[in-house]
This record gives sequence, structure tokens and C-alpha cells, in this order.
Amino acid sequence: MERTLVLIKPDGVERKLMGEIISIYEKKGFEISAMKLARPTVEVAKEHYYEHRNKVFYNELVDYITGGYVCALIIEGENVIDAVRKINGETDPLKAEAGSIRGRFALSKAENCVHSSDSKESAEREIKIWFPEMPQL
Ligand code: CMP
Repeated sequence: MERTLVLIKPDGVERKLMGEIISIYEKKGFEISAMKLARPTVEVAKEHYYEHRNKVFYNELVDYITGGYVCALIIEGENVIDAVRKINGETDPLKAEAGSIRGRFALSKAENCVHSSDSKESAEREIKIWFPEMPQL
């Protein structure tokens, strides 16, 4: 079964959108197989955003994600990686479909409520970062 890593980011947690966002994935029929609230360390944040290390917004990204609690989820189901990215909507909330999570709730490219893995390789890499205690596939 395919699986993905989702983060409900600090803006989503602070605005009390956790329940509503999790419910969207559940109602679509996906299985939440692990979940935790965590205040990310700078090390975890840097590892998670490693591929963006040379981007101009990298420091802003690390500061933001370490500035509050995140809710990390492992979600399982058929084609869950692509499906969850569609449900989340595009990174820029102005371009995200109106019915998507970012289209409905996000404020900016930096504070965009959710993150999800973009490939099977990223999903396994990110699951290892956020859930080191979980068995690896
Ligand atoms: P995420 O899916 O977590 O992966 C990379 C993140 O970089 C992305 O969501 C956005 O939150 C963030 N991001 C992308 N573009 C910008 C930008 N121009 N300014 C600030 N943050 C950005």
C-alpha cells in the first residue's frame, strides 16, 4: 500500500484547523496510520527541507516550521501521494483550486497550512525523519 507524509504546519495548528484538515483526508477514504504533535527542532526542519537549502526562502522556512507545533501524519491508500497533493492544492494559495485545503485556508506561500511528500522516495525519506520509530518499508 502506498503511503505519504503530511504535515499540518504551525499556521494550521494555531488556527485550530487540525481536525478539519484530518477529516478531509479521512472522508476521502484514506487511512491515518500514525499521527503526532511535535515542536520540530532546527535539525529536523533542516533535514526535512534539505532540497530547498539553496533557496532564498530557506531560512524563513526553517524559522517558520520551528516556530510552533506541527501535526505529522502518515497516510495510506491507493495513489495517496498524488491524491493528497491534489487535495492540498498548489503551493501558492492564489493558484490553488478554491476547494483545496490551501485554496480554502492558506494565507501565503510560506504559511500554507500543509505539506505532503511529492514522491515515494520523498515519502520514505520524510517518514524516517518524523517517525524514526516506525518500521521502514
Ligand atoms: P512545502 O510543501 O512544505 O515545501 C516547500 C515549501 O517552501 C512550500 O511548501 C512552501 O511553504 C515554501 N515556499 C515555496 N515557495 C516559497 C516562497 N516563494 N516563499 C516562501 N516560502 C515558499
